[in-house]
Amino acid sequence: MKGNILAGGSGTRLYPITLAISKQLMPIYDKPMIYYPLSTLLKIGIKDILIITNPEHIDSFKRLLGDGSQLGIKLTYLAQEKPRGLAEAYILGEEFIQNDSVVMILGDNIFYGSSVDKILPRYKVIEGGVIFGCEVQDPSRYGVVQFDDDFNVLSIEEKPTNPRSNYAIPGLYFFDNRCVEFAKKVKPSTRGELEIVDIHKQYLDIGKLKVDIFDRGTAWLDTGTFESMNEAAQFVEVIEKRQGFKIGCIEEEAYKQGFISKEQLLELAKPLIKSGYGEYLIRIANT
Ligand code: G1P
Repeated sequence: MKGNILAGGSGTRLYPITLAISKQLMPIYDKPMIYYPLSTLLKIGIKDILIITNPEHIDSFKRLLGDGSQLGIKLTYLAQEKPRGLAEAYILGEEFIQNDSVVMILGDNIFYGSSVDKILPRYKVIEGGVIFGCEVQDPSRYGVVQFDDDFNVLSIEEKPTNPRSNYAIPGLYFFDNRCVEFAKKVKPSTRGELEIVDIHKQYLDIGKLKVDIFDRGTAWLDTGTFESMNEAAQFVEVIEKRQGFKIGCIEEEAYKQGFISKEQLLELAKPLIKSGYGEYLIRIANT
């Protein structure tokens, strides 16, 4: 299975902050936003990852993350010329995906909780598509999934005015190779985008869409507005200070997965000492 992080979009809801910088490079407390989704992919054990960004920001991402070899992974970069929607990522990524399955995560989605760590690796090998349901107070802002008592999907809707359930679909999707062919069939929506839910619906039509539910102990945070970005930063700060462990630490995840050795982790810590981040990596290496 390959991984894909969609870190494009124009970030207009964060203007003027994102006039000159990519939204997914903004800080969420002590690290850039993209560290969080990247660490989630590492947790699943994904080593071959495509990062899709705006053309003007691609070099900044490369400066931050390089080719991934320092983390024992392979990173490929691709530009999305215009924010034409999430489903376009599978068309742009066709050459990268080849004959494999793919897990896509949105560059501004943060997941935290032990059930996430347990559930996600289960879908590393899949047939069909797997999406998640997360209960929220304001489902109209998201894709919404309705399902029966046996978790059979009944309907999928994008930002419905009258949602049929309180379960939003977070930006994390596991698809088999059919996603590329399905993405090509999607027509632009009224907001002019190729909607991801139109891929979900095609999996649903062939009876191959599964929904898994994140329980109440799971935090799914999105960071698209000033408030939600601030809240996410506060959440991370509170947990990190209380527990003494970091959320979204890509170096730690790479080490835990065995992608890098203790020596490599200590090497990564060196330039990060002054901020305290490096000291944390040293602590992880020595425990
Ligand atoms: C997108 C998807 C939506 C999903 C959401 C998760 O919305 O279209 O289905 O629930 O991401 O963050 P957008 O960010 O484009 O408004």
